[in-house]
Amino acid sequence: MARHVIAPVADLPVGARKRVILEGRPVLVLNIKGELFALSDTCPHRGASLAEGILTGHVVATEPGTYVYSREGEILRCPWHAWEFDVRTGRSWCDPKHMRLMQHAVSVASGVSLLESGCVSASEAPIKERGCVSASEAPLQQEGPYQATTFPVRVENAYVVVDTPD
Ligand code: FES
Repeated sequence: MARHVIAPVADLPVGARKRVILEGRPVLVLNIKGELFALSDTCPHRGASLAEGILTGHVVATEPGTYVYSREGEILRCPWHAWEFDVRTGRSWCDPKHMRLMQHAVSVASGVSLLESGCVSASEAPIKERGCVSASEAPLQQEGPYQATTFPVRVENAYVVVDTPD
């Protein structure tokens, strides 16, 4: 483990994010409601900076027509293709309905094929193959195939410290 002093705690107030380079790797440190998190700032899908992503929550359907929104601010959505990452575990999530909307928005604007990127498909089949099912079957957010790297983060003598593996 290598220890990295990131910043004085006072420089990372609630809601702040800081992007740093640790041993050549971009790492994003976030203060979410007073709790610190650190994860790789390279999206495991296609390499976008997660630092530009929005923080959202987790939505599940407990039964048809009943939705539960939880963990506000703990899910980081990648700005490129909208895969979402749990800041605690780095595990990815996707919302199949949102992915289909993204396909239209991006393909019309720039001609970029999200089908090729693996994020969306014209049909439902490739989404199902990746563990994401159609909106009519889905509990809104499905576990995805990607895993963002997370790092231990703590406060030592009023400084934020992140550990990276050797
Ligand atoms: S690069 Fe992050 S979701 Fe595609």
